Amino acid sequence: MKIKRIAHLGIAVKDLDPPKKLYTEILGLELGGEEVVEAQKVKVSFIKVGESSLELLLPTQPDSAVAKFLENKGEGFHHLALEVEDIHAAVAELKAAGVRLIDETPREGAHGALVAFLHPKATFGLLVELCQYPD
Ligand code: CO
Repeated sequence: MKIKRIAHLGIAVKDLDPPKKLYTEILGLELGGEEVVEAQKVKVSFIKVGESSLELLLPTQPDSAVAKFLENKGEGFHHLALEVEDIHAAVAELKAAGVRLIDETPREGAHGALVAFLHPKATFGLLVELCQYPD
């Protein structure tokens, strides 16, 4: 598969405003948009860092995976997102290699992307998201 860049680092938070203020007003970074991703029950806010971003993740429902993460681990680093050229090919390649996936089929993510998560047991404890953006 062809991995193009680190698209973003996902960070679970309990409130979007304080981290947004830190990253923009104090660290001088720029906001890169905000949206609710219904499928994942989160509101996300992007902060641009060069060709990558931070993705602040706020759960919108108590049964959101991010809400459970916050309950168990508190705020902090949640996942690494890698942009791939062809997510369907990447997922097929991983399946063929016997790599365990959370998403056997790519699903809808923020910014109109298709995303698929690898299982953290297959990636040495790191939750990895593959994403492909529309052209
Ligand atoms: Co993400």
